Amino acid sequence: MAEGVPLVDTVLSVRRMTVRFAGVVAVSDLSFSLHAGELLGIIGPNGAGKTSVLNCINGFYRPQAGQVFFLGRDITHLPPHARASTGIARTFQNIALYPHMTVLQNILSGRLVHMRSSLLGCGVYWGFGQREVLRHRQRVEEIIDFLEIEAYRDHRVAELPYGIQKKVELGRALAMEPRLLLLDEPMAGMTVDEKADMARYILELREVRGLSMILIEHDMGVVMDLCDRLLAMDYGRKIAEGPPKEVQQHPDVIRAYLGEEHGVAEEVAGGP
Ligand SMILES: Nc1ncnc2c1ncn2[C@@H]1O[C@H](COP(=O)(O)OP(=O)(O)OP(=O)(O)O)[C@@H](O)[C@H]1O
Ligand SMILES: [Mg+2]
Repeated sequence: MAEGVPLVDTVLSVRRMTVRFAGVVAVSDLSFSLHAGELLGIIGPNGAGKTSVLNCINGFYRPQAGQVFFLGRDITHLPPHARASTGIARTFQNIALYPHMTVLQNILSGRLVHMRSSLLGCGVYWGFGQREVLRHRQRVEEIIDFLEIEAYRDHRVAELPYGIQKKVELGRALAMEPRLLLLDEPMAGMTVDEKADMARYILELREVRGLSMILIEHDMGVVMDLCDRLLAMDYGRKIAEGPPKEVQQHPDVIRAYLGEEHGVAEEVAGGP
């Protein structure tokens, strides 16, 4: 194998990634790994490059330099749909659902990555196809139960409160049965109760299902509570990485947040 091929227990490995947009370096020579079953938090001020990292992992952006390994395979040149098929799912900072479709239909759309083989099956043997459709429906119902959104299953997404839409987005990502879940500010704009629910789902996904996840989140309390490890970014660079308490108190992290709203800097410093 080539030099430095990731270890088996490494789900994801990002190597020396750089992303530039006319004059802006969004991600600068960034390397990190994610272990199986780990919940890694990415923090950093606005514009630090956090979303760009997720966009490179799921294939929306092509980095100018660097590589992405997923389950030991170099996926740097795969398009987004091929990466989804390998088991990478995500939610978006700005909700990206089908607003005029129902909750059920939106979550079912996450099953599409698994449906191509079912449709082929239908042509070969109708009974097999029927069973496949039932299996997809059953999986979607389980997700609706898990996210406690039964009351909304037939509602059009556009009519629902923002916090419920965020849950539906998580539901669609889970319908893909991912091996890596990328969450871009899943709690932004939520009420305190909705945030607590979302935190509970994320913990259950890690503890009961052993799902590997990357979580971008500005709420330091949430990040400190949930994450196994933190990676802090500023101006596209990694400025700290390690146990949450250590990263929170790292001088470069505190400095990066000092230019931000005062309260955030205090949270990062572990202050009141
Ligand atoms: N598609 C794009 N075209 C041009 N510039 C971009 C693009 N995507 C990101 N950028 C720029 O790259 C930098 C990093 O942006 P990114 O969205 O990754 O930051 P972020 O850490 O997710 O910020 P936030 O906390 O505000 O979501 C910013 O300066 C941003 O303007
Ligand atoms: Mg972002």
